[in-house]
Amino acid sequence: MMMGTTSTAVTTATALCCFLIFCSTSSLFLLSSAAPPRRPIDVPFGRNYVPTWAFDHIKYFSGGNEAQLTLDKYTGTGFQSKGSYLFGHFSMQMKLVPGDSAGTVTAFYLSSQNSEHDEIDFEFLGNRSGQPHILQTNVFTGGKGDREQRIYLWFDPTKDYHSYSVLWNMYQIVFFVDDVPIRVFKNCKDLGVRFPFNQPMKIYSSLWNADDWATRGGLEKTDWSKAPFVASYRSFHIDGCESSVAAQFCATQGKRWWDQREFQDLDGIQYRRLAWVRQKWTIYNYCNDRKRYPTMSPECARDRDV
Ligand SMILES: *[C@@H]1O[C@H](CO)[C@@H](O)[C@H](O)[C@H]1NC(C)=O
Repeated sequence: MMMGTTSTAVTTATALCCFLIFCSTSSLFLLSSAAPPRRPIDVPFGRNYVPTWAFDHIKYFSGGNEAQLTLDKYTGTGFQSKGSYLFGHFSMQMKLVPGDSAGTVTAFYLSSQNSEHDEIDFEFLGNRSGQPHILQTNVFTGGKGDREQRIYLWFDPTKDYHSYSVLWNMYQIVFFVDDVPIRVFKNCKDLGVRFPFNQPMKIYSSLWNADDWATRGGLEKTDWSKAPFVASYRSFHIDGCESSVAAQFCATQGKRWWDQREFQDLDGIQYRRLAWVRQKWTIYNYCNDRKRYPTMSPECARDRDV
């Protein structure tokens, strides 16, 4: 909230300055008070991840720089990070199941390991050939979820690799698709909303059959004659504060790049891009679902969902 006010003031001041004198390069610097996360570094799968289940359904290419997950009628598969992290920037490049992928779900998420768990989810719901995938996101805090948002993507996610990433610090959780913020969840502790701050999370990914709900609410079933279904991964970037599962705090808390001022809120350009996603690509937002939630969740206003 405070950051928002500050950047508005800065923008106004800059506009005024442009009015009175010429727009100098220094005023351009003033405008960009926030910044995109640091550029991810590509590392091999084995640096940060291990398979979780159905090891024989994961294949590695280019010296482990690329991994492919396979779903057939016997099983799906998944992998998880070796470490647990409290805050940071987590990114993955993915190419989703091409062709007829109805009924399949590919997920990339962060989750803590206890009962009152925190979770930050990307879930890609497959579809019939030529029909769009849906990207569903959700945030669980202290075991409470029910914060689904659904969007279509502005590109075909099965054609090329795109990056999907999460920035998580004390102030906010931001979901990015490439460089576009598609969702923000601000720390609304002051409004009585729990925020993940003391439970380390692992990063997970999996591909599985969910034709009881995934595509058109479960109407479209997985066509097993089209199996195996394959999702491809690369990059495997993790830049987080590694901690033990039991650790309550991160020793370097407040000192890492993601804690700094420019990552505590989105800037004007990022908020405009987010607004574009909400206007053009959003199918569902729990913040607007008055049937399910007669009273809107307190975080919705601060996240500028409404
Ligand atoms: C699949 O395609 C249909 C028809 O275009 C669309 O209504 C639906 O939202 C798409 N996605 C999923 C996951 O059902």
